[in-house]
Amino acid sequence: MGPGREIVFRGVGGNYGDITVSIFISFPPTCDAWRAGEDGGAGGLAVDTIRVGFIGTGRISDLHAIEYRDNPHARIVALCDRNVELAQARARAWGLGDVAITADYRELVALDTVDLVEVLLPHHLHLEAALAALAAGKAVSVQKPMCTTLADADRLIDAAGQAGRPLRVFENFVFYPPVAKAKSLVDEGAIGEPLTIRVKSNPGRSETAWEVPASARAWRQDTGKNGGGPLVFDDGHHKFALVRHFMGPAEEVHAWISHTTAPGGFVFDAPAMISFRFPGHRYGNLEIVYSPELDVVTDHYAQDDRVEITGTQGVIRINRGHGQLGCEVVPVQLFRDGMLTDYTDMETGWETSFVHATRHGIEALRNGRQPRLSGPDGREILRFALAAGESARTGAAVRL
Ligand SMILES: NC(=O)c1ccc[n+]([C@@H]2O[C@H](COP(=O)([O-])OP(=O)(O)OC[C@H]3O[C@@H](n4cnc5c(N)ncnc54)[C@H](O)[C@@H]3O)[C@@H](O)[C@H]2O)c1
Repeated sequence: MGPGREIVFRGVGGNYGDITVSIFISFPPTCDAWRAGEDGGAGGLAVDTIRVGFIGTGRISDLHAIEYRDNPHARIVALCDRNVELAQARARAWGLGDVAITADYRELVALDTVDLVEVLLPHHLHLEAALAALAAGKAVSVQKPMCTTLADADRLIDAAGQAGRPLRVFENFVFYPPVAKAKSLVDEGAIGEPLTIRVKSNPGRSETAWEVPASARAWRQDTGKNGGGPLVFDDGHHKFALVRHFMGPAEEVHAWISHTTAPGGFVFDAPAMISFRFPGHRYGNLEIVYSPELDVVTDHYAQDDRVEITGTQGVIRINRGHGQLGCEVVPVQLFRDGMLTDYTDMETGWETSFVHATRHGIEALRNGRQPRLSGPDGREILRFALAAGESARTGAAVRL
C-alpha cells in the first residue's frame, strides 16, 4: 500500500443508520480513492428515495428539475434562492406542492428532510454553500466548475473526505447521448487509436433560444464571481471535460484568447484558440468563435458545439451540442473503410444531457458508488481551464 492516511467515517444517523467505516486513502487523490464509496461508504446514500434540495433556482435549475421530478427514486423537497419569489415560481412551475422554500441556504442545509444538496449558484458561491451542506451531513452535487481556484477545490475535496459524504461535480456534457454514442464507438475501436481531437464552440444568435435573465449574464462578466471568461473558463469546462473524456489527461496547454463585445455590451472571451498535447504525440484544440449574425437552431443557449476525433483508421464527428446549424443535422457520423455512417437513433435535445447526468447521479448514490465527476476529476478539469487562462496571459505554454 502506498502513502496515504486512514479516515474514519461516522454515519449521522437518521436515514443512513449509525455506521462507522474506516478506509485508507492513498495520495495523491485519485478516482480510485473516491471509489472507496463503492462499498456503500462515502460514495453512496443508503436510501431508496433521494430527497434533494436546490440552492439556486436560476436559469439552469429548470433542466436539473426534469429528472428529479420524473425519477421514482428522487424527490425535490426544498428550494433556496435569495430571490424567494423566483423559488416560489419554480415550485409552482414544477408542480411541487410540498416543498420547503427559503432565501437562506443555511436553513436548507439544516433540514432533516434533505439528503442531497444541488448547488446551482454563481461560481464564487459554490464553495461556501457546498461546505455548509457537507458540514450538515448532506451529500453534495455542485455545478461546474466546482470552485474558481485549485486551493478552493482542494478545500472542498478535503471537506467531503472529512465529512465522509459524497461530493459530485455536475458535468452534463459527457452524458449527452451523441457524446455517449461517440464514446462507445471510440471505445469499440471504430476509429482505431485516437490521435487528435478538435472541439468547436460557436455562439451566435437565435430567435428560438431561451431567455437568459440579465442577472445571470451580469455575474459572468465579473471575473471575481465567474472565475474567468464566460466562454473559455465557464462554458469551457464542458469542452475540457469532453477532451479529457475522449483523450485522457493533457500534458501541456497553449492558448490565445481575444475579446469581442456583443450587441447589448456582453463581452465574450473570443475568438480563442487553445491547443493541448497528450502523452504519445497526440494533440487537440478548442476553437471558440462568436459569430454575431450566425443563426443557431436551439431551445436553449444560442450556441453550437461540434467535436471531431481522428484516429488511425477513421474519423468520428459529433455535430451538435447546445444547438445545431440547421434542422437536419446528423448527430454522430463515423467515417472509416471508405464509408460514411450516420448515427441518428438517439435523443438529441441538449436537456437530455441533464436528464442522463441526473439519472446517473441518483443511481450511483443509491447504489453506493461515486457519481461522475468525482471531486478530484472536477479539480483536473478546473486545472485544465485555469491553465488555458494562464497561457493566454503569459504567452507561454503551461505544463499540467
Ligand atoms: N451545465 C451547464 O451546461 C450549465 C449551463 C448554465 C449554467 N450552469 C451552471 O449553473 C450554475 C448557475 O448558473 P445559472 O445560469 O443558473 O445562473 P443564474 O444567475 O440564473 O442562477 C443563480 C441563482 O442563484 C441565486 N443566488 C445568488 N446568490 C445567492 C445566495 N447567496 N443564496 C441563495 N441564492 C443565491 C440567484 O438569485 C439566481 O437565481 C453555475 O455554476 C453555472 O456555471 C451550467
